[in-house]
Amino acid sequence: MSGRGTKKERSRPSDPKDPNDPSDPGDLGANSGPAGHVPVLLSSVLEALQPKDGEIYIDGTFGAGGYTRAILEAADCRLIAIDRDPQAASTAALFKKKYGDRFTFIPGRFGDLQELIAAPGVSHVDGVVLDVGVSSMQIDDPARGFSFAQDGPLDMRMSCRGLSAADVVNQYAEADIARIIAALGEERRARVIARAIVSERENKPFTTTLQLADLVTSVIGRRPGATKHPATRTFQALRIFVNRELEELAHGLAAIEQLLSPGGRAVIVSFHSLEDRIVKQFLSNRAIPKSRPSRHLPETIEADLFKPSFALINKRTITPTRSEQEQNPRARSSRLRAAVRLDAPAFAFSLNEVKIPKTPELE
Ligand SMILES: C[S@@+](CC[C@H](N)C(=O)[O-])C[C@H]1O[C@@H](n2cnc3c(N)ncnc32)[C@H](O)[C@@H]1O
Repeated sequence: MSGRGTKKERSRPSDPKDPNDPSDPGDLGANSGPAGHVPVLLSSVLEALQPKDGEIYIDGTFGAGGYTRAILEAADCRLIAIDRDPQAASTAALFKKKYGDRFTFIPGRFGDLQELIAAPGVSHVDGVVLDVGVSSMQIDDPARGFSFAQDGPLDMRMSCRGLSAADVVNQYAEADIARIIAALGEERRARVIARAIVSERENKPFTTTLQLADLVTSVIGRRPGATKHPATRTFQALRIFVNRELEELAHGLAAIEQLLSPGGRAVIVSFHSLEDRIVKQFLSNRAIPKSRPSRHLPETIEADLFKPSFALINKRTITPTRSEQEQNPRARSSRLRAAVRLDAPAFAFSLNEVKIPKTPELE
């Protein structure tokens, strides 16, 4: 664990149904827009957040605004919504019409939360929710390039900027592609897939999702009785890589610790173990008092250094009930962790304190 007071330095995806799995029929058609969207674990999110009149909340993953709407309806509070997807702005405009000054939308990444909310002059908030990963709207739109169920450009960039999935498979070295697919997709056949990608791109560079999905299927085959598409893990890995999702999550958590007022609540919903492990490690590091590092430190300094900055609301993850899973198949692999901010200073943060698999640089 890192010390206090210094400035912020700058998986088993084996769930039977994964909302981030573009082949999951629970996702397809589940939400074609704000009206049809079913937010996951919504009642648990509200229970953990406990919105109150007069308070300020952040929804760091606005999406179709399911959480935002529920929070704004639950209390006469103010909410700042963030999303990196430029398409979220049109939904946000509808919210602005309805909720007026109580609602502010800021385009951007929640990893930059502190800088983003400084613009409207906010320095501290009473609660933050994150529902990490990709939205059903993004998966369902073939033009966004997340789906191997429908053909589209091999893109996968939530913010529509930077290196695309096609750039990675067309330009990266074979060993780097293998590392990405193994580490972020937990795909055992990563090296075979990477070799096939590099050989295929000599003939024809990758441009579409089905081109990649078909290649992966031809290389590793479909296991009889398997419910998942053979390309699920490869697609997940590329998506996490091009969006730097795990690093974003870690930076977002560090920002939340800085921004929450004492008594403020952090509520994080994740979908696979790579994400959940980061949330668990980050919160446990700050909620569970550490043993003394040195008996020579003056007691006052020591007490400050090791005072927990969070108290866990739930020791284990909260998962959807059977009836919620039946009503909303997208919710099946979701899990929620929540914690209350205490009045101790924020811990210094380093990316090394959470387990992010090593992958090549995003060039
Ligand atoms: C699972 S959806 C959220 C759905 C939302 N809770 C609802 O009820 O409608 C995730 C959203 O977060 C956005 N997102 C993912 N990572 C982000 C990041 N690092 N910064 C900002 N937005 C992000 C995605 O663009 C997507 O719109």
